Amino acid sequence: MVLSTQKHTAFLCRRFTESVEAALHKRYDLLVNKNDSLLTPDEIVSSAQGSQVLLASATEQINESVLRQLSPTLRYVATLSVGYDHINMTVAQELGIGVLHTPDVLSDACSEIAMMLMLNACRRGYEADCMVRSGNWTGWSPTQLLGSGLKGKRVVVFGMGRIGQEIATRARAFGMEIHYHNRRQLPPEQEAGATYHPALDEALKIADVLVIAAPGSPRLKGIINAERIAHLPPRAVLVNISRGELVDDDALIDALATGRVFAAGLDVFANEPNIDPRYRELDNVFLSPHIGSATQETRDAMGWLLVDGLDALYQGRTPSNLLVPR
Ligand code: DGY
Repeated sequence: MVLSTQKHTAFLCRRFTESVEAALHKRYDLLVNKNDSLLTPDEIVSSAQGSQVLLASATEQINESVLRQLSPTLRYVATLSVGYDHINMTVAQELGIGVLHTPDVLSDACSEIAMMLMLNACRRGYEADCMVRSGNWTGWSPTQLLGSGLKGKRVVVFGMGRIGQEIATRARAFGMEIHYHNRRQLPPEQEAGATYHPALDEALKIADVLVIAAPGSPRLKGIINAERIAHLPPRAVLVNISRGELVDDDALIDALATGRVFAAGLDVFANEPNIDPRYRELDNVFLSPHIGSATQETRDAMGWLLVDGLDALYQGRTPSNLLVPR
């Protein structure tokens, strides 16, 4: 639906899926960062001058300077991500800039990636692939690549939001015992039999598998540090689909190198894409390039959530994916 003959100007920082870009072109005078390069805050400011809408993703730093320099023309920031730790929400609020994000539609895709990481870490997916691909496989052996099974193991989901609950559903189907740590205990229907641990340190003590699914936030930077890793049972497995900054890389790399932690599966990293190079040297870490929500249907759904949310705002309605100040 084209909402008015007078089109507003919008700037698209990254390439979205085809159908979403087509919908945006219909509605806006759309300026596009055609080659999908990563833009610095200064580049965003110079490219998006005069725009009412800024369409971004988790790779762009929408910091104070970006918001102030694009204000007062800028009315909305729409980010193709559930996370909004890359946006200065305090300043957005102060300047009256509405922020839209993409919750719910990516919970299935992200929880699938959590299971992919969990299975590959526990069952030594990287080493198995290398063995076959390299031609070094000499044949089946009773003690070859012995991993750690999921059935009967205790998984601790750190961050039992929408994605965390989908991870729990899938882990339950694998016969795992579900535990979680959250700021608040969930109502019984959302808990679905999972055990709540009000203290993270206590939860870690029983985590055969720790899955980090908490939202990125400066408050949680480095929370999984050497001291907390030491709480994990010997040969625990760690999975991270949240933000790399939650994990202290020195501590995790040390624990992986010594075997204190059996394995890790990581989809997110501090300082992406320039990850700590020591991860590449470890056989017991399964690495993926921040692809939690990367399915065609999910990225389409995320884009449409932003398109529909912006339509609603321009019609004077409040869409459910508008972030409200807490
Ligand atoms: C998210 O949605 O926050 C993912 O990390 C992709 O950016």
